[in-house]
Amino acid sequence: MTDAPWWQRAVGYQIWPRSFQDSNGDGIGDLPGIISRLDHLSDLGVGFVWLSPAYASPQADMGYDISDYRDIAPEYGTLDDMDRLIAEAGKRDIGIVMDLVVNHSSDKHHWFEAARNDRNAPERDYYIWADPGPDGEPPSSLRACFGGPAWNWCERAQQYYLGYFSPFQPDLNWRNPALRREIWDMMNWWFDRGIAGFRMDVISLIGKDVENEVFEEGPFLHDYLQEMHRETLRGRDVVTIGESWSVSRETAPLYCAKDRDELSMVFQFNHIKSQWHDVHGKWKPKPFDLVAFKEELFGWQTALADEGWNSLFLSNHDLPRQVSKYGDAGEYRQRSAKALATVTHLMKGTPFIYQGEEIGMTNIQLERLDQFRDLEAIGLWHEEHERGVDWETFLAGVNENGRDNTRTPVQWDASDSAGFTTGHPWIEVNANYREVNVAAERDRADGILAHYRDLVKLRRERDIVAFGRFESVADNHPQVVAYLRTLGDERLAVVVNMTGEEVTFDPPQRLRIVGEGLLATVEPREAIDGPLTLAPWESFAIHAR
Ligand code: NOJ
Repeated sequence: MTDAPWWQRAVGYQIWPRSFQDSNGDGIGDLPGIISRLDHLSDLGVGFVWLSPAYASPQADMGYDISDYRDIAPEYGTLDDMDRLIAEAGKRDIGIVMDLVVNHSSDKHHWFEAARNDRNAPERDYYIWADPGPDGEPPSSLRACFGGPAWNWCERAQQYYLGYFSPFQPDLNWRNPALRREIWDMMNWWFDRGIAGFRMDVISLIGKDVENEVFEEGPFLHDYLQEMHRETLRGRDVVTIGESWSVSRETAPLYCAKDRDELSMVFQFNHIKSQWHDVHGKWKPKPFDLVAFKEELFGWQTALADEGWNSLFLSNHDLPRQVSKYGDAGEYRQRSAKALATVTHLMKGTPFIYQGEEIGMTNIQLERLDQFRDLEAIGLWHEEHERGVDWETFLAGVNENGRDNTRTPVQWDASDSAGFTTGHPWIEVNANYREVNVAAERDRADGILAHYRDLVKLRRERDIVAFGRFESVADNHPQVVAYLRTLGDERLAVVVNMTGEEVTFDPPQRLRIVGEGLLATVEPREAIDGPLTLAPWESFAIHAR
């Protein structure tokens, strides 16, 4: 296992810079703030940070709209701060993985400015344009992800441009080789500054065939990813994670099988989507369905068992807080946060922790439109309102699944604004910060933070956690997650009660095991030798060798 890539034993930690730590009292997180908190990350033991966009940006989509790929947003700091962050993290053996947002740029990028001003500018063809129809109409009625039409009329250019997400995020035209060259040069420029890799935003969209309205996993996608590999990644010891909302178990190996020379792994969302409403998607809450959830989680473990590599996560800046969504944010917040971490971190793949998850941060309950910051939620309200949806129904959906939930400031301590800022935070701090904060967790030997620390360490130290073969157990059990990992003669059994009730579980023979109790969140356990009575949200793992 010693020749395995470093990122197969590492845990990633996502920082969403606007809400991590403010250093200058302007109420907005920044790079010096991140540097001041690096010891928290090295204490946790993570191997790399995925830094959500900190580039220059008008922040229409909170940085996922970049106006200069080679500069830092002034409210976040400077390129010098970025270099310092890379160096300081490096001293702690933590790599910095940047976010590569190249399906689209900001409409304030100088490429787009040039493109819309001059039909003959070389940058014109960096974007996707279409002539109006005979009556001035757009080429299609395609809707943008964040509301409104995807084709936007540009008066100066006298053409429509494609903004698949929003008018502020014009899509880049990957079919233009000069555009691709710009991107390769920019990636190499960042690699030369010492970053450890890229998380690639909605990467499965770059190969789109607009004429035929094929957007996801379009016909050019893998050619471009292979070109990217040749031009930027080859020979570098870096990690790459491609985000895709469309990738399936069948297509995943195309991105990350070793001999394909594309990416290290993908972020897929099928387990997340298994909990969305069939008709109304993520905005209509539905009861948690553990069997469907396991079907996806376990299915992906099997699909990528021999080829490719999984990413493991339940949260990020686009998703709700996991303890609120899948656990119990009330009575069993501590136990359920640990249970969910046990499930995620002991599977095979690279786990990711989203800032604040390691202390069991919860969703925030918002009541008024002026409290929301996310353009997706605000755009949604305008659309729903027009459709006649009432405020209470809208609120129920966004308070459960909206993106502002994970964007509230990290709760560091019980002081004002949770130690995030000395100023006025750009988004509200969750009211529970006096109880839920890093300082309080640090003092708890059996707390959530301690549990995450143990899980991260187990992956680094035990081959079976990092590389053991995954075998699902009790797929159809509606309350329990159970699985087995095997490596040579070694076995690792993992059992988690995913409910707030006491549950009896009769483990099949192959899960019966006597060994070392690696972790247990309710009471120590060293054997599974018959039917189990599991306490609410109990989780444990036993290693036999
Ligand atoms: C996915 C990102 O994670 C999300 O935050 C963003 O809004 C879209 N891609 C568009 O860049």
